[in-house]
Amino acid sequence: MKYQLRFTSDSSPKKGTWLVPFYAQEQPIHFAGTTLPVSVFEGKKDTSFLHMVGTEAHHIYIGLGKNPCYADIVRAYRLVSAKQHAVFADELYCHIPDDWSDAQIEAAFVGLLLGSYQIGFYKKDRKPHPLEREGQQVILVGKHSAQHSVARAEKVAAAKMESMAMVDLPPNKVNPTYLAEWAQQLAARYDSVHCTTFDRTKCQEIGLHAFLAVSRGSANEPQFIILEYRPENPYKHVGLVGKAMTFDTGGHNIKQQGMVYMKSDMAGGAAVLGAMQLTAALQLPVAVTAVVPACDNMIDNLAQVPSDVIQSYSGYSIEIIDTDAEGRVVLADGLAYLLKHYQPDYVADLATLTGSCVMTFGQVCAGMATNNAEVQHALSEIGCEINEKVWPLPLWDDYNDMLESDIADVKNFSGRPVAGAISAAKFLEFFTEKHPAWVHLDIAGASFVDDVFAKGKHASGYGVHLMARWIELLAAK
Ligand code: BES
Ligand code: ZN
Ligand code: ZN
Repeated sequence: MKYQLRFTSDSSPKKGTWLVPFYAQEQPIHFAGTTLPVSVFEGKKDTSFLHMVGTEAHHIYIGLGKNPCYADIVRAYRLVSAKQHAVFADELYCHIPDDWSDAQIEAAFVGLLLGSYQIGFYKKDRKPHPLEREGQQVILVGKHSAQHSVARAEKVAAAKMESMAMVDLPPNKVNPTYLAEWAQQLAARYDSVHCTTFDRTKCQEIGLHAFLAVSRGSANEPQFIILEYRPENPYKHVGLVGKAMTFDTGGHNIKQQGMVYMKSDMAGGAAVLGAMQLTAALQLPVAVTAVVPACDNMIDNLAQVPSDVIQSYSGYSIEIIDTDAEGRVVLADGLAYLLKHYQPDYVADLATLTGSCVMTFGQVCAGMATNNAEVQHALSEIGCEINEKVWPLPLWDDYNDMLESDIADVKNFSGRPVAGAISAAKFLEFFTEKHPAWVHLDIAGASFVDDVFAKGKHASGYGVHLMARWIELLAAK
């Protein structure tokens, strides 16, 4: 971002564009000598009103509804920034109401910045958003404590947009090596972050057999990515595992529908990488280890076939009933590797794991499977506030028989089209060695969405903020 940021308490009229938030109200709105009747603008959620003031200034009134949460404010500002930036003057004034909290200021700025995200990476006539323009000024009008909130917002938005770009960029750009290099660059930026990547040969050497079985149909070199964030005197240790299938054709059980969306099958890995960036940027006092197995699920003479039996890092064998249920297979090695080499107090995995989760929840929330009530409660609360919502799936023993294989220790699919998201979670649970604080988030629906911000499906950045905020609050406990 190239804009220059200033703060002022002088709210006298000046030329430029003014962003002015309003709650829903039944009284006419007054601002800087202007009065708007309720019939024109009443501050409803997702509405805005552009008001020209003379020839030099214009105000954009932003409706926030009655009682906006953090996510409502993000959305309101993102809408204006994404849809109305054509009228943004070089001087962009952001009016901050006196009674706004730090979190509300942060939310407004996160939204403003997210609105600059444009998906047309390969368009010849790509125009920069005003916030990416040399000479653009952003002036916060209000109390001075805003500095800290804006700095935080910049970190949140940057990490989210990094993660979104990884998902939205095409699979001929974002391959496993691209993600590995991204992780190495993150580590190069922060002394507190260390990166290790294993290529095919190294994975063979150490026995990541399940990960390799999925990747062996692809010409792309698989990369098993490990990021370690180690602040001074860490309070706790969190392990994150993210599925990064840079493309999922389904393998020999080839996808009959929706294959075109499968560049997004690395959204779990992208969320974990983005969360690592945010954790490091915010210097959170918690140790975090991220494991991102990155590969693609392709078809050639080496690719797995249904009924193959493979080995895994944990020592357990897996019968491959369906080559399209590949995410859980790579996560089995990701989880096993994390648990063998680290002793995290909490473990979270994020994965675009099942169509079943999409059928159940749509794009509204992630399916969450956990054995830990405290984690469930924490993620539910944070998720609602920032609109990266979760909803629980059961892990009852009743589902155990869906994993039982005659020939191997476990099978990767029950073979029946029922309880898909739950049985996938049960498969992962098998590889978590009864860790007391493990949570699985199936982000298949929530990570790649249809909404007003693009014509087709695109990344939401789901999970980046949820994980980082969770980590932050673990330290605050
Ligand atoms: N990557 C898919 C899941 C998915 C589906 C993500 C739709 C995003 C949108 C996963 O690898 C998969 O194919 N799962 C199968 C499992 C089945 C074969 C047991 C599914 O859910 O259909
Ligand atoms: Zn699949
Ligand atoms: Zn997949």
